Amino acid sequence: MYNIAIDGPAGAGKSSIAKALSKKLGFIYIDTGAMYRAVALFFLENGIKDSSDNEIDKLLDELDINIKYTDGEQRVFLNNVDVSDKLRQEEIGKLASRFSALKSVREKLVALQRKLTKKENVIMDGRDIGTVVLPNADLKIYLSAGSKVRAKRRYLELIEKGFDSAALDEKAIENEIIKRDEADMNREISPLKKAEDAYYMDTSDMTFDEVVSKILDMVEKER
Ligand code: C5P
Repeated sequence: MYNIAIDGPAGAGKSSIAKALSKKLGFIYIDTGAMYRAVALFFLENGIKDSSDNEIDKLLDELDINIKYTDGEQRVFLNNVDVSDKLRQEEIGKLASRFSALKSVREKLVALQRKLTKKENVIMDGRDIGTVVLPNADLKIYLSAGSKVRAKRRYLELIEKGFDSAALDEKAIENEIIKRDEADMNREISPLKKAEDAYYMDTSDMTFDEVVSKILDMVEKER
């Protein structure tokens, strides 16, 4: 079994890079951010917006998250309903960051993430993959880029998805990204940080294809 862990701040391109690598390598791609987003959606649907709400642990017992693959694409199921298309809004990302600081939430998702690596080669991305979820991963990458570059990429991605450019503000996107990173890096449990044995890659001046082929080279050398 060969496992690759990719961590890094919001908007660093982890998901699209990991997805492209998984296709080239024939590995399963596991997007752990989508799982935290699904938890956030679940709480939102149950009227909970605050991570100190004492209904949380009770509700978590009723939460069943499952991952399935359709044509190689990860789909996230919340109590048997496919919610994958509802997870990408920034509002859900923000809420995911809030709830992901909770021990009970992390324990539930980390157990599921580890279970998914038992049968196949995987490439998994998130915030704590190299440090906590897969400390023995064969290759660890910490993917980053300056906040301006990340905001620009996010902006272009939203436009490509059909959002109206007049309604988008790059500076506001950058501020959201910075705020979310600060929360993720400074939380008590499993904060975002580079694992000691991870390769640090600043992709600010790299194209998408350059990043993919650089990581493929690393896999080839290490495998
Ligand atoms: O990567 P994505 O933006 O989808 O992640 C949403 C949020 O989920 C992150 O801001 C972070 O708070 C949380 N997360 C986490 N650990 C992971 C993946 C995501 O805490 N492994």
